[in-house]
Amino acid sequence: MTERNADHIAIYPGSFDPLHNGHVDIIRRGARLFDRIVVGILLNIEKAPLFTVQERVEIAREVFRDYANVEVDTFDGLLVEYARRKGAGVIVRGLRAVSDFEYEMQMALMNRNLNPGVETVFMMPSEMYTYVSSRIVKEVVALGGSVTNLVPSIVDDRLREKRHARSTLRA
Ligand SMILES: Nc1ncnc2c1ncn2[C@@H]1O[C@H](COP(=O)(O)OP(=O)(O)OP(=O)(O)O)[C@@H](O)[C@H]1O
Ligand SMILES: [Mg+2]
Repeated sequence: MTERNADHIAIYPGSFDPLHNGHVDIIRRGARLFDRIVVGILLNIEKAPLFTVQERVEIAREVFRDYANVEVDTFDGLLVEYARRKGAGVIVRGLRAVSDFEYEMQMALMNRNLNPGVETVFMMPSEMYTYVSSRIVKEVVALGGSVTNLVPSIVDDRLREKRHARSTLRA
């Protein structure tokens, strides 16, 4: 077991391309449960992300500007190693539906195998966000649909800017 203290810091890892209200919901819940929650943005997982890592960091920092115990950071490599570096005893993951379960269970058990001192904690978002993913947000925006009620307003603005830039480029 890790030292008691380490359990008070949690890492919430993901690609957050882009951050949406399902993520925001989980981060808010985590901020209530833990002394500190670190939003860990994965570097290099997708070859062609819509938002650069720098943009994703900026967005998350802006959205959680008023949360003193939410930190936004980036990482590469093994998650349990990153947790060790941050002194975190908890990995937070969001569970939307049964479809998330199999992959999440595999990851949680592999992470436990790699470092039994780090515990994975699953949280469920408000039911109105259970169907939201970054992938579906990007798909809808690419087809001209609105995601205003599913993403923070800064993300909505930036998605519009990107769509505008792309349509101008095509014109
Ligand atoms: N709507 C949601 N409600 C609760 N948790 C969520 C939601 N969407 C994602 N998560 C969780 O957030 C974490 C980071 O996920 P990730 O960055 O892959 O987001 P995503 O929306 O699934 O993006 P993508 O569609 O690119 O996979 C994971 O634990 C994931 O299960
Ligand atoms: Mg995902």
